[in-house]
Amino acid sequence: MRLSTLSVAALALVLAGPAAATPDPLAPTGRWSAPDSAAARTPPMGWSSWNAFRTEVDEAKVLGAAQQLVDSGLAKLGYRYVNVDDGWWLKRRTSDGRLMIRTRIFPSAAVTGGDSSFRPFTDRLHAMGLKAGLYSDIGRNACSQAYDLHSPNLPEGTTAEREVGLYGHVDQDVALYFRDWNFDYLKVDACGINVYAPGAPVVVQNGYRAFPPLIDQASINRTDVAQVRSLYAAVAAAIARYRPDGDSILALCTWGSADVRRWGKEVGQMWRTSQDITPHWTRMLHSFDSASTRALYAKPGAWNDPDMLFIGQGDFDAQHLTEARTHFALWAIINAPLFIGYDLRQAPDSLMRIWGNADIVRVNQDPGGHQGVIAYASDDVQTIVKTLSNGHKAIVLLNRGLAPAEMNLTAAQLKLAPDAPIALRDLWSGRTLAPFTGETTFTLAPRESRVFEVSGTRRLRDGMYLSEVPGDVNVAVDGVVAPEPDPVVHRMIGQWSGTRDTGERPIYAGWGGAQADATPYDQTLQVAGRSYDTGLGVLAQSRLEVRARGAERFEAMVGVDDSTRDTRDAVEFLVYGDGRLLARSGAMRFGEAARPLRAELRGVRVVELVTRKVGRATDLPLVTTWANAALRGGGAGLASRQ
Ligand code: GLA
Repeated sequence: MRLSTLSVAALALVLAGPAAATPDPLAPTGRWSAPDSAAARTPPMGWSSWNAFRTEVDEAKVLGAAQQLVDSGLAKLGYRYVNVDDGWWLKRRTSDGRLMIRTRIFPSAAVTGGDSSFRPFTDRLHAMGLKAGLYSDIGRNACSQAYDLHSPNLPEGTTAEREVGLYGHVDQDVALYFRDWNFDYLKVDACGINVYAPGAPVVVQNGYRAFPPLIDQASINRTDVAQVRSLYAAVAAAIARYRPDGDSILALCTWGSADVRRWGKEVGQMWRTSQDITPHWTRMLHSFDSASTRALYAKPGAWNDPDMLFIGQGDFDAQHLTEARTHFALWAIINAPLFIGYDLRQAPDSLMRIWGNADIVRVNQDPGGHQGVIAYASDDVQTIVKTLSNGHKAIVLLNRGLAPAEMNLTAAQLKLAPDAPIALRDLWSGRTLAPFTGETTFTLAPRESRVFEVSGTRRLRDGMYLSEVPGDVNVAVDGVVAPEPDPVVHRMIGQWSGTRDTGERPIYAGWGGAQADATPYDQTLQVAGRSYDTGLGVLAQSRLEVRARGAERFEAMVGVDDSTRDTRDAVEFLVYGDGRLLARSGAMRFGEAARPLRAELRGVRVVELVTRKVGRATDLPLVTTWANAALRGGGAGLASRQ
């Protein structure tokens, strides 16, 4: 039986029950709620000391890198942030809590009066036209104090003096870093709330104050997500106080834990999606996978961060340019922040040409901010497609394995017309290939990737599929009730444990989150036996905000996805325009054919797509599909979408 729309609304109210006083997260707000950030409209780019020097950082090394960025032209391409990572601090002065810099390695920080200041250093970077970044920890102690115990650059002194992290000092430290020292960027790590448990050997042996962990990287259930978020939110608020112009970046470094995928965009401008990258091929794949399946969670001002580039070392050194190029292309196409982690004072030209590939940097920095979406996935090869603002696409074909692979590229994967010529320009060689129609094939060497800019005739001639423009979709509520680890991230041999333990387990929550061109559990979108290669997959009880960009109408085929585990409850699909209800599907159940949903949009700025459960027979996740969801007319998709 189909419920009338009135009874659906009434039922929703009844279900909300006595708690109706709490705001309904599915109620339309009529606005785009993702915060903006002047400093991070495109993925931040620059250089960081960590992958090059770990804690053995010093002023000459950093300024040497800065000079190279300027002299080589990389700065002009966008590599502007010069970030000092862990290792800079000497101690926290106990008389007034002020952080002291290790002036032995940062000589310009030695100022008269016994203080130390990074101001001369940041002045120097700013005078070079660059931006300055610094590192801290959200707890009392940093990562090096647990993991780099032989470092000559660990904080010194009493237990209290070695508490260099932000905990209990947020306002004071942020004022120092942003107002007094004039930094533009702060990376905030999380070891201080993770590895200093009472009784832990590192605590006992080094005389640290214990911190009952808020993060358990192996268990989302044992992680206090709300508390972690509120600690970081306090840092963001302090930065807003001391850097009111908004020209600042807060980089969250909880390594994908604490369900940061969901809330990172509301607190910082970028958030790490995985543990640390190492210069190993499979570790790079692991980092890539942790971010590549979250296209709908990134957008201008908010980026998935699979960690800094390791080009130049190990599997990505100058003897392995195939791997190095692939690493770069992958980071570029998923809009990862691009931070070089190499001693630029002695970088060979072959590596400089990788970081300096202006076409590939342009793909990463495209103003539309649409993260590449996976169009074909297997454990062996992948095709990733990204919409560019000039109406073209960028694609990466990736061979993840150790055997040559034949890869077919189809017009459908590109969402281009199958009967019109498609042109590919190779972004490494600059060469344009002979056009193809319908389908073409490449053979890729082991670990090789191909990067192309693609032009053709759009399959949807008068509009954009929403899965083509993930940067214009804000997942305000994704319907995930109990965050679950994502099982599709590549699992490599443990970087610290080797094969001594039982093996790498899925740990990053994110499974069940909204997906472009797939269900929340990475299955093909399918309603009542009919599959769709295009659409948004999201759990019921979700609300997506979409920038309308002058489109005349919204269209989709909606229904309960065949993959749903909740096959009993009904759900309703609702479309709002600037807060007004424009269209609704009526209650729909598993097994029912998809229904067309269409809404006229004239003048609408923000479309909201809501799926609301009707009734609660079970708490199992109900998978809903906005198949072929698109904005059409009004020039949508034809002109640049910036
Ligand atoms: C953590 C971070 C790294 C780096 C080190 C510094 O491991 O994830 O990126 O900042 O700490 O100790």
